[in-house]
Parts: sequence; structure tokens; C-alpha cells
Amino acid sequence: MSQRLNLMSPAFREDPYPFYAKLRKEAPVSQVDPNGFWAVSRYEDILTVFKDPELFSSSELRISAEPPWLGRTNPVSEGMNLAEPQQHARLRSLVSRAFTQSVVARMEPFARDVASRLVDLLFQSAAGGTVDFLSEFALSMPASLMALLLGVDPSLQKQFKRWADDLSGAVLVAPDDLARQDEVRQTMGEVETYIHKLLEQRRAKPGMDDLVTDLLRVQENGAGLTDKEVVSFIVLLLVAGLETTTFLLGHIALILAKNPEWFDRLRSNDVLINPFIEEVLRYEPPNHCQLRVTTRETTLGGVRLPAGAPVLLLLASGLRDESHFPDADKFNPERGVQANLAFGHGIHFCLGAPLARMEARVALDTILASFSRFELATDKVQWIYSLFFRAPVSVPLRLVSI
Ligand code: HEM
Repeated sequence: MSQRLNLMSPAFREDPYPFYAKLRKEAPVSQVDPNGFWAVSRYEDILTVFKDPELFSSSELRISAEPPWLGRTNPVSEGMNLAEPQQHARLRSLVSRAFTQSVVARMEPFARDVASRLVDLLFQSAAGGTVDFLSEFALSMPASLMALLLGVDPSLQKQFKRWADDLSGAVLVAPDDLARQDEVRQTMGEVETYIHKLLEQRRAKPGMDDLVTDLLRVQENGAGLTDKEVVSFIVLLLVAGLETTTFLLGHIALILAKNPEWFDRLRSNDVLINPFIEEVLRYEPPNHCQLRVTTRETTLGGVRLPAGAPVLLLLASGLRDESHFPDADKFNPERGVQANLAFGHGIHFCLGAPLARMEARVALDTILASFSRFELATDKVQWIYSLFFRAPVSVPLRLVSI
């Protein structure tokens, strides 16, 4: 490609897929803007990077979560997603004992109640007109389930989004934006104070089946997680588990609205429900990229990368790679593949994937039981301004009930 591709340009945001296809064909490992990141666009090259966390490091990114104006440690930078492999292995093994498949299974009946309640609210908000599925359903469902998972007061879910935005947004605050810096510092203090209090409460009075109590109980060779590690893990859940799931639910609604035949097809053949969700994850993965940094000079896809090179893994491009997914630009749930790459790969593979998949299934079941179709109430979907995520700003719908 003659000119560097800009992943933040309006044309790219509108429809990144033709650009990804060009990259895969002409320059599968090449520098793009912003920041001269080394974009990796082919499925196999992305896997190669994920499989070597020593060479393609996540922990090197820690520094960027701590801009000098912060003047303190950011719990986000201490999350296990940014830990070096040995430390990561210990943390992942400990938290995996608390955050298990059976925890997710236990949450499913509650998820069904939440989804039905939100559908009732959708009807009320629409009142025969239009309603934004994203703000009225897709935002609330993951937040309600996060409150349940942590065993905290459901009213707290209203604060989750601000917490997650402020904590993960520290890296984006301009050096001269003093007001925003103050806000971020304040939120960090607020979150830490809240979680420390929560830990004290759970120690004094353990819960019956909440993740915080389980995390405090986890032990290995007589040693468990420190309070600081539990705080960072809870913060990581808030940062990694809310917006991503909201965006997945938003894509499901949007794709259903654009492909109304799938309402009937899924209702008459429910074995297609899981493949439909996997195909949404493949076709419109919420998380478009992940970042790594090379710890020494290396070669990838025939291209030499210097030590310290920021490497941008284009997951969404890998999931459209023809050599792995024939007819990749066609939305086709019947291809029957799991879109695991949407959740990463290797040691950092998404810990919340079973929860996200369960939420998607419950949301889809509930939608199919309540609506005969969705009509998109706009000619032009607006996409959020983000390098790492792709999602509609809103999903305005007219609801057609059964
Ligand atoms: C990691 C995507 C939902 C918790 C990841 C990674 C991806 C991802 C791509 C890999 C990051 C890397 O390689 O550096 C998604 C998507 C979701 C989703 C697309 C929804 C559709 C969730 C949920 C939770 C969660 C619901 C928890 C409640 C985590 C955690 C990690 C992670 C803790 C770090 C794992 C580690 O470093 O070992 N996620 N995620 N995610 N995700 Fe998710």
C-alpha cells in the first residue's frame, strides 16, 4: 500500500472491512496510523503473536495506563491482562477458581428475568414509536449481571459505566486537561474506597454465592490473592466486561434488524441460535484490536519488526480472512464456526467469554419470544469513535411484537 492507512479516519470508521481486505492482500504486516502501530491483519499471523507472550508482550503496555499527571498507581495497570506471563499464570489460576462455568450457569435464571424486564421496559419506552435498543437494553443487561456477579447493590450499576470510562480513559486524557484529570483521580479514589469497604464487609459476613466472597476464599499453597490484587481484578472486570457485552448485544439487534428473515429462521430452528451468535461475533466483533509490544527484534509475516514495536492485532480482520473463513464477507450463521478469536487467544483468552455468550443467548431467546421483527428507524447507523472497539452509537428501532 502506497500510503499509511489511518484507522481513525471517517471512511475507515464507516466501513473498515474493505481496508482490512486490502491490508491482508497487499501489506499484511505494515505500519498504520495513529502512532505508527504495526498492524497485523492475517488470521495466522495474529495467532502467532498471541501464542508468544514473551516476545509480544502485554506487560510493556502497563506504563501507558499511568500518565505522569496521575501521580499514583492506576488499578487498571495492575490487572492480570497486563501482567507478565509468570505473574499472569498465578493470578489467572487463582481467579479462575472463583470465576467458573458453574458461576455463569447459576446466573442464567437471573439473566432471563433481567432480559424479560428489559423487554417490558422497551415496549413502554417505545410506546408505539421508536426506542434505542443500545441504551435501553444492551447497556442495562451486562450492568445488572455484573452487580449480581459481584453481589453488590443493583443500584450501583448506574455508576459502573462512569467508573469503567474514567479508569480505562486515563491514558487518553490530554496533559493540559486539568479538570478531566481531577475527575479521573477522584473516580479512582472512589472505586478503590468502595471495593476495599466491600472486601471488609465480605470478610466480616461472607456472601452465599458472590464472586467477591469466592475470591477472598481462594488459596494456593497457603497463599491467596492480596487485597490489591482483588481490587485490580474487580476493576478489570468492570473495564473488560461491560462495554464489550453491550456492544455485542447492540450488534445482535442491528444484524437482526438488517436481516429480518433470521427472526423466523431462528424461531423455527433453535439449534441455529448459538451459531448465529458466533457468526455475529465473527462478522462484527465488538473488540477490533489488541495491542502488544515486541521485547526484541523479530520477523513476522516476512517483515522485520524492531524491539519495542507496538503491534496492533486486527482481530476483526483475522475473522474476515478468506483463507480461514471462505466467503468471509457473507453473514452466514450456517457456516457453524466458533468465533473464538473475537475473545483473543492464548494465555489472555477472555475469562468472561462464557458469561458474554450466555448473556447473548438469553437476550436473543427473549427477543425472539417477544418480537416478530425489528425495524431500523434510521437510514444511517453512526459508529462510535474508537480505535479498539466498533459499535453503533445507538440502535433506534421500531418494535413489531409477536
Ligand atoms: C480478555 C474480548 C466480555 C473479562 C479479553 C480479550 C478479548 C476480550 C479480545 C483478550 C485481551 C488480550 O489478549 O490482551 C471480550 C469480548 C467480550 C468480553 C468481545 C464480550 C462480547 C467479557 C466479560 C468479562 C470479561 C463479560 C467478565 C465479566 C475479561 C478478562 C480478560 C479478558 C478478565 C483478561 C484475561 C487475561 O488477561 O487472562 N476479552 N470480552 N470479558 N476479558 Fe473479555
